[in-house]
Amino acid sequence: MFLEVKDISSSNFDEIPPPCISCLYWKDTSFVENVPKDIDRRILKKKWLQELFQKFGFVGKILYLEDKPIGCAFYGPFEAFPSIKSYGSTKISQKEVFLACLYIVAKEHRGKGFGRFLLNSVIEDLRKRGFKAIVTFARRGSSDNPSGPLSFYLSEGFRVVDEPTKDFPLVRKDL
Ligand SMILES: CC(C)(COP(=O)(O)OP(=O)(O)OC[C@H]1O[C@@H](n2cnc3c(N)ncnc32)[C@H](O)[C@@H]1OP(=O)(O)O)[C@@H](O)C(=O)NCCC(=O)NCCS
Repeated sequence: MFLEVKDISSSNFDEIPPPCISCLYWKDTSFVENVPKDIDRRILKKKWLQELFQKFGFVGKILYLEDKPIGCAFYGPFEAFPSIKSYGSTKISQKEVFLACLYIVAKEHRGKGFGRFLLNSVIEDLRKRGFKAIVTFARRGSSDNPSGPLSFYLSEGFRVVDEPTKDFPLVRKDL
């Protein structure tokens, strides 16, 4: 089994697996609501990621199994993801990175350690970049969430640091 993680860049943008390749969830809730139906969201996503890449130097990673993309992660400083404000937490600092999405797309690929593998690759990247912690909004009682369920993050050494709402606690892992 050959697993590989690659940084997202202009050369592999088209390999981001659906639905993530057209997802604008974190861009801004009001922006997303007003995107006309006939606009290709992949083009808007690409433009947005290029902007983030230029501004921060990184946007995320793609996980490949036998050269086939099976998952992805997006992360960056909290100002990269304006929709964070709709979760109601203010406890994210400049030295922390927000994990907006961690997704193993197909159900048959889940529960095999791939999510942990991808998360660890993200964590290694952030350590090298000098960040002090990674945070995300995990979902209590359900996996249906951009970065997955609270139980996954607790098993990976994160702890709950804020509960602006009962269902979406903010979890943090020091790096
Ligand atoms: C959350 C997710 C990234 C985890 O990746 P994964 O490959 O399935 O998880 P792993 O096999 O690496 O598991 C790592 C640990 O987390 C635990 N875990 C993973 N998913 C879990 C879940 N849903 N509930 C409880 N524990 C879970 C595992 O038991 C394992 O711990 P262990 O080694 O102590 O047993 C993946 O399941 C996923 O993408 N789920 C879909 C989430 C979703 O719908 N997102 C919407 C995006 S728009």
